[in-house]
Amino acid sequence: MLRRLHHEQPDSFAFTPDNLAWAEAQITKYPEGRQASAVIPLLWRAQEQEGWLTRPAIEHIAEMLGMAYIRVLEVATFYFMFQLSPVGSVAHVQVCGTLSCMICGAEDLIAVCKDKIADKPFALSADGKFSWEEVECLGSCSNAPMVQIGKDYYEDLTAESFADILDRLAKGDVPVPGPQNGRYGSEPLSGLTSLKEFESGRKQYNASAQLAVDIGDTVKRIQGDEVPLLAPWNAQNGAAAVAEKPAAKKAPAKPAAKPAAKKAEPKAEKPAPAAKAEPATAEGTRPEALDAARDGKADDLKMIKGVGPKLELMLNELGFYHFDQIAAWSADEVAWVDQNLKGFKGRVSRDNWVEQASTLAAGGTTEFASRVKKGDVYD
Ligand code: FES
Repeated sequence: MLRRLHHEQPDSFAFTPDNLAWAEAQITKYPEGRQASAVIPLLWRAQEQEGWLTRPAIEHIAEMLGMAYIRVLEVATFYFMFQLSPVGSVAHVQVCGTLSCMICGAEDLIAVCKDKIADKPFALSADGKFSWEEVECLGSCSNAPMVQIGKDYYEDLTAESFADILDRLAKGDVPVPGPQNGRYGSEPLSGLTSLKEFESGRKQYNASAQLAVDIGDTVKRIQGDEVPLLAPWNAQNGAAAVAEKPAAKKAPAKPAAKPAAKKAEPKAEKPAPAAKAEPATAEGTRPEALDAARDGKADDLKMIKGVGPKLELMLNELGFYHFDQIAAWSADEVAWVDQNLKGFKGRVSRDNWVEQASTLAAGGTTEFASRVKKGDVYD
């Protein structure tokens, strides 16, 4: 199947504050220079938040991870779990149509989809609440036929029980996922024949269904405040600790010997601050800016870890084109830039741009810049 971005796209994308905290925590799981490893969790989170993956979301995530847009687009278009077109506002139903499900009644479920949702897969229902598609085996063959909605499985379905689930979802209910025919898991319908001792003391539902019920995020857009955002590798507990991390991080001290400072003297006439986009916040001090790159040749600011194509453009628009300019920023100036990178607040201190820029301005290199030069990061 040809998978392309939808022809209509929103103007922008932003994670909710909680989802952003979660996403930034995911990135910290990976060692320096390996942030791209977080691409699938972040894309998935964006999809959980919006329902589908928009182009602005893909680009936003590429910038968060310092990846070329095309690399993230490749991931989004490769995996069928990512929806590239708008889906039902309540539920997108994925009906397994592979062998076990097919011989146990998948065609009946698809008939229900055609009847209650839309005649064709990926089309929205008349009220916009539902959409559906047929997918390959979802690994729940012993509970066939089944559908996946969001991250939950509804199993052991019949046309009637499935139609009832859709009706309840339409009314705003959240049916409990898992087997719908009375089975606890995938034991015989007549009950366990062995390991019966484990029946006593077990929870009301099997582990997956119980977790969905306990967390309460089944069939919902994920704003991020629904579940504890634990990032034990990063902070003691919870989203708050993670969210505070960028702010809590001290602005990097400028190196004592700063060879770049001299180069920071602009050859071009210093621009009037008014010529640049004025900030929404007055926190900190605005660093000196240039009207244009010296000699018409800007440094490749993407060699600084944390600066992607969009941030580089934003920096240029603010009058920053050279490593030595960034290397010369004081803590107060870092605070100003941190506050004025729309959508990327706190990046300068989080990724220690001043220290990186000092090294690069002095003719040195960083591990990240070396990878950029080798083409491992950017095309
Ligand atoms: S065949 Fe449907 S889950 Fe495997």
